[in-house]
Amino acid sequence: MVIKKISAADFRNIESCSVELTRGVNVLAGDNAQGKTNLLEAIYFTALGKSFRPVKEAELVRFGCEGARLENVFEDSVREQRISVRLSSGRAKRVVEHNGIKLSRMSELVGQFRVVLFCPEHLSLVQGGPEMRRNYLNVAISQLRPMYLRSLQRYNQILKERNSLIRRAEEDRRTFDATIDFWSEQLAEEAARITCARAEYVRRADGLVAEIFADMSSCFPNATEGGEVPKLEYASRAAQDDESILSDVGAVRDKYLELLTTRKEREILAGSTLYGVHRDDIKISLCGRPARIFASQGQQRSLALAMKLAEGDISAADFGGDMPVFLFDDVLSELDAHRRAYLMEKMDSRQVIMSTCELSQDVSAGINLIKVEGGRYFS
Ligand SMILES: Nc1ncnc2c1ncn2[C@@H]1O[C@H](COP(=O)(O)OP(=O)(O)OP(=O)(O)O)[C@@H](O)[C@H]1O
Ligand SMILES: [Mg+2]
Repeated sequence: MVIKKISAADFRNIESCSVELTRGVNVLAGDNAQGKTNLLEAIYFTALGKSFRPVKEAELVRFGCEGARLENVFEDSVREQRISVRLSSGRAKRVVEHNGIKLSRMSELVGQFRVVLFCPEHLSLVQGGPEMRRNYLNVAISQLRPMYLRSLQRYNQILKERNSLIRRAEEDRRTFDATIDFWSEQLAEEAARITCARAEYVRRADGLVAEIFADMSSCFPNATEGGEVPKLEYASRAAQDDESILSDVGAVRDKYLELLTTRKEREILAGSTLYGVHRDDIKISLCGRPARIFASQGQQRSLALAMKLAEGDISAADFGGDMPVFLFDDVLSELDAHRRAYLMEKMDSRQVIMSTCELSQDVSAGINLIKVEGGRYFS
């Protein structure tokens, strides 16, 4: 997959731009607060229909303007395509078009233009909290399967309803008793689909991460890290007693239904839903020990890097070898020389768009350099 051109108008600090991108490495270089991340955010928005930064949609519109426009021209292995987005700073709904056809839901957009985003926060994928790892799975799988995103959206709505019912249980026990089982059934249904999709993804990532980790470690001058074998497993409360159910949607649904129907009093005490995919995690270990406790910082970073590279490999495998576009926001400066060199070597023959304040020597040859100044882009 190759993005050929990204155009933006009244998006963040960009008044108007049209930036041509090439296959291979594209570098957005400039001082702080010039608009490097903003352009990556524009590209990401056309892929996922949302930002990767915590921001309300209206805040993406340039200060004082009514609306923003984005257009992404890209090609996959078959043909040239176009995604355009209009955002409003007011109440008007966003409009998204794919090849001129208006899309009615986000699950129709996500997956058309596939990306792998890598920013400094991802380096804490191993060390950080479980939400980060769930988000890693959600973004990756949504781009492969529109049904996954639909399930996730429905799950979050049902969870909200169920939580509000639980919170009001003490003051209105009758409504609670009359309706809670309905919401539990709905929740268990979507939870089971999400659980099995995530477990399958983690199984695929596990093999790839082990390979990439070993390969990366062998590139270090004193390759002592190499002997240790990483393992990724999907950790779900539903499969705590029997992991074999993770490939059986019906069995996972029944397990969730059992948890959700037999432990209601506990949930009322806690004030929220205690069982479901919103509490799951990826268990990452190194030689059988939890990586977040026992792995060195360097090993944790290598694992995170391997997980991001695996995300690209899995996406390509599902689309006849067509690699997604890689977006690196300020990530090279966070890596040591060996990991940086390894990552750049892997980018060979892929398209990557990266932001940086300082051009490092590893990436200066054969790149498309784009200078960024005050929301303007100069090739
Ligand atoms: N809605 C908006 N309207 C206008 N300007 C905005 C808006 N949102 C953010 N900005 C401006 O965009 C600039 C930040 O751009 P961006 O995050 O792309 O910087 P950057 O070049 O990535 O910098 P750094 O190297 O520090 O990461 C800031 O000056 C910020 O005030
Ligand atoms: Mg930035």
